[in-house]
Amino acid sequence: MSVLTMGVSTVTTQVYAGQRPGTSGLRKKVTVFQQPHYLENFVQAIFDVVPELKGGTLVLGGDGRYHNRAAVQTILKMAAANGVARVLVGQGALLSTPAVSCIIRKYAAVGGIVLSASHNPGGPDGDFGIKYNVTNGGPAPEKITEAIYQATTTISEYKTYSAADIDIESLGEYTLGDMQVIVIDPVSDYAELMEGLFDFSAIRAWFASGKRMRFDAMSAASGPYATRIIEGILGAPKGTVVNGIPLEDFGGLHPDPNPVYADDLVAHLMATNAPDFGAASDGDADRNMVLGRNFLVTPSDSLAVMAANAKLIKGYAAGIAGVARSMPTSCAVDAVAKKLNLPCFETPTGWKFFGNLLDAGKVTLCGEESYGTGSNHVREKDGVWAVLFWLNLLAITGKSVEEIVTAHWQEYGRHFYSRHDYEAVDTAAANGLMAHLRSQLPSLQGKNLQEQGLGAFTVALADDFAYDDPIDGSRSEQQGIRIIMTDGSRVVFRLSGTGTEGATLRVYLEKFAADVAQHGVETQKALHDLIVIADQLAQIKTRTGRDAATVVT
Ligand code: G1P
Ligand code: ZN
Repeated sequence: MSVLTMGVSTVTTQVYAGQRPGTSGLRKKVTVFQQPHYLENFVQAIFDVVPELKGGTLVLGGDGRYHNRAAVQTILKMAAANGVARVLVGQGALLSTPAVSCIIRKYAAVGGIVLSASHNPGGPDGDFGIKYNVTNGGPAPEKITEAIYQATTTISEYKTYSAADIDIESLGEYTLGDMQVIVIDPVSDYAELMEGLFDFSAIRAWFASGKRMRFDAMSAASGPYATRIIEGILGAPKGTVVNGIPLEDFGGLHPDPNPVYADDLVAHLMATNAPDFGAASDGDADRNMVLGRNFLVTPSDSLAVMAANAKLIKGYAAGIAGVARSMPTSCAVDAVAKKLNLPCFETPTGWKFFGNLLDAGKVTLCGEESYGTGSNHVREKDGVWAVLFWLNLLAITGKSVEEIVTAHWQEYGRHFYSRHDYEAVDTAAANGLMAHLRSQLPSLQGKNLQEQGLGAFTVALADDFAYDDPIDGSRSEQQGIRIIMTDGSRVVFRLSGTGTEGATLRVYLEKFAADVAQHGVETQKALHDLIVIADQLAQIKTRTGRDAATVVT
């Protein structure tokens, strides 16, 4: 049933179970979102929970994946019916996640809707997602995502506006009832922000001197940004950016910048006559992987190197206030913070936990082991920003990536790090594994694992990570089981909050080596004993029925 008044209609709908946002918004298969009123229910819940949107500005765009354009048209009509005054929508429905954050802040919007399932595959059989960002430009905090979820559990109607689709392929201004729609260039505001942070003339000179880079946009949202900034403004030769045109199915690939899914980029950087610098970004351009010629950089190390060198970069020359990392991220940045006498915060997984610290001016740089780094310039992790940070560092130091990172290890020690993912595991088995681990926590405390033939480790702390936000006092529990050894080595277990099929078990492994003679050891070898311990304690093989991890990064 739908009742029409002056173009606005109220449509009767029914509750869909399971619309609770996860680590980063609501993510489901495209086919789930295509069910009648599924998207509409969630969007109406946003308008109901954030009444300030009435009369305010909303930013709208996504990562270019399949169903983005259709969803944008639906949301525009619902925004008009719900009294939004102005929507800034990216041309072609495209806006990277960090660009949404930048634009919310720059134009004092009330919030933004990001249509993305990040690094998950796209296309009609792939994934879709929707996420609400608040006035500071960052992901909505749990208080709001939970209120949105609650609203979806009682929804009975939503509002929409009857009108023809807006031409979002061309820049320009339109009206939908009383609402103004401005189709904006997705790149220009973001590019201007980057120019204020980095020494573009130094990077231009680096390219002009013949240095070479390969940026793999993975047929996703970073393409237009990297092409305009790196090839356009910074003068890198054409062809520096590959897979630069966003495709609705990402070319059938998995747009996740890690050595497994960006294996083509890794192969180019490991080849003879490889470029000096390589980088990739994910579906919505908030993740990044950086690598040098023949040299991979872990995201945890990347964050630590950035923190150690921030003073060399124009936008951070006045110094950084502090750093933050998600709990499973390696302690490499902690070592830098200690030496530089900076506050260092440990938060649960997910960028939303950095927002309060950034807003309060407590931290300037933050990062996650999952190929995410960012700063206070926006309230999202930012892939292209991280790549420009590294380019700036290469340009002003004249050093190679390998030289920068190995010198860093010499100074701070090396934190060997790896993540083992077991994807699409049976949900009950995964929950059982976590419950089993939890039940062992009290007895693990202080235990000498060597006595059980499990390597030379004694447990210093075994707990289920809980976080008390120092700014708003909110508490988040069950954020991952961590087993920390007396030498600082760690094994962490979590279940993913972004998957759309069964459960994904993530096992995070970390071992510190101060001794330079140890730094050349292959990572999985260096972590071998901890890998065995992880399997023994969690009974991974027997409980998941898997012999090996699906993805090792
Ligand atoms: C994953 C990452 C996490 C990141 C999130 C969104 O979440 O592990 O660090 O913030 O994607 O990009 P997870 O699937 O582990 O819940
Ligand atoms: Zn992403």
